[in-house]
Amino acid sequence: MLNRRAVLTGVASLAVTLSACGKGDGGSSASDSEGGVVGIAMPTRSSERWLLDGKSIVEGLEDRKYKAQLVYGDDDPKAQVAQIGKLITAGVEALIIAAIDNKSLNGVLKKAAAAGIPVIAYDRLILGTKDVDYYVSFDNEMVGRMQAHYIITKLGLEDGEKGPFNIELFAGSPDDNNTRYFFDGSMALLQPYLDNGQLVVPSGQTDFEKVTTLRWDGPTAQKRMDGILADTYGAKQVDAVLSPYDGISRGVLAALFSDGYDTAAKPLPIVTGQDAELPSVKSIIAGDQAQTVYKDVRQLAYAAVLMVEEILNDRVVSVDDSQTYKNGVKPVPAVLLQPTSIDKSNYVTLINDGYFTEKELK
Ligand code: GAL
Repeated sequence: MLNRRAVLTGVASLAVTLSACGKGDGGSSASDSEGGVVGIAMPTRSSERWLLDGKSIVEGLEDRKYKAQLVYGDDDPKAQVAQIGKLITAGVEALIIAAIDNKSLNGVLKKAAAAGIPVIAYDRLILGTKDVDYYVSFDNEMVGRMQAHYIITKLGLEDGEKGPFNIELFAGSPDDNNTRYFFDGSMALLQPYLDNGQLVVPSGQTDFEKVTTLRWDGPTAQKRMDGILADTYGAKQVDAVLSPYDGISRGVLAALFSDGYDTAAKPLPIVTGQDAELPSVKSIIAGDQAQTVYKDVRQLAYAAVLMVEEILNDRVVSVDDSQTYKNGVKPVPAVLLQPTSIDKSNYVTLINDGYFTEKELK
């Protein structure tokens, strides 16, 4: 797909003045530019991946002679709305937004629409508004399926005999549209084993509302896991933890370590993850976290940049899917990339792709 899109980029790109802001607070202005400024609103600096997303989008835009203005909302939905408002006032030509709270942007996106600014929802779909034009992301349901499939395979559940195994379930932030896709993707595979008793959730916490983790926060997940271990485990041991994101996985692992896991008698459970963040990949190599889902966000950034270029040049925008990603008001045309499951056996993929150097993983 990227090749097909790459061909399209052979057509002239906008010649505009160059310059890009680094991590901004939303306070800097784009008014001194001659046009061609693209506003980028990212959700948080607390996670490595979003730093790489922001940096990659800026670089991609600069390579194509656009200006970029990058802001981070630091997990505060109101701050993000204010930042986007400022980008609109500053006269950006397009907006790339990874929402903190998928439903908080309706008002500000109305202003974007009134100003004729196209909006790309980046990785996280923006809900409840017609004022979002495109979506770029990964196949989010597949991410959840990969995490569940890993657990199923490693526990050997498919033979129908093994078990019962104890599993605990974690989901992402309830205000992130992806959370449902990840969780539903996982549960589609895990549910039959919960139904036939090969998997058991000793905490009893299986409802979506019970298992979400506000803002994907690791310490919040750690606290929940601490509570589960203290309240329901006693002599029992955890065999697997479904975790949707590396930051959550590291919180879960911290709780397990402080409960005495990681010995011959009390081995660590299978803990999944997502994003191939450096500390988690190191943890996988060390044999602690079991798995992560690698999403090459440099490619996601590239897809967003190509989309901006197509939109601003009035070209036909290449999408993969025009129906699946409904935001409550309309289906949002989407470009979807494929994720890759990573564990100790294939982490070298990350080195081969240049995502990390061998030295960084030491
Ligand atoms: C999701 C994203 C994941 C992970 C998570 C926490 O929206 O799809 O890859 O980054 O946010 O930041």
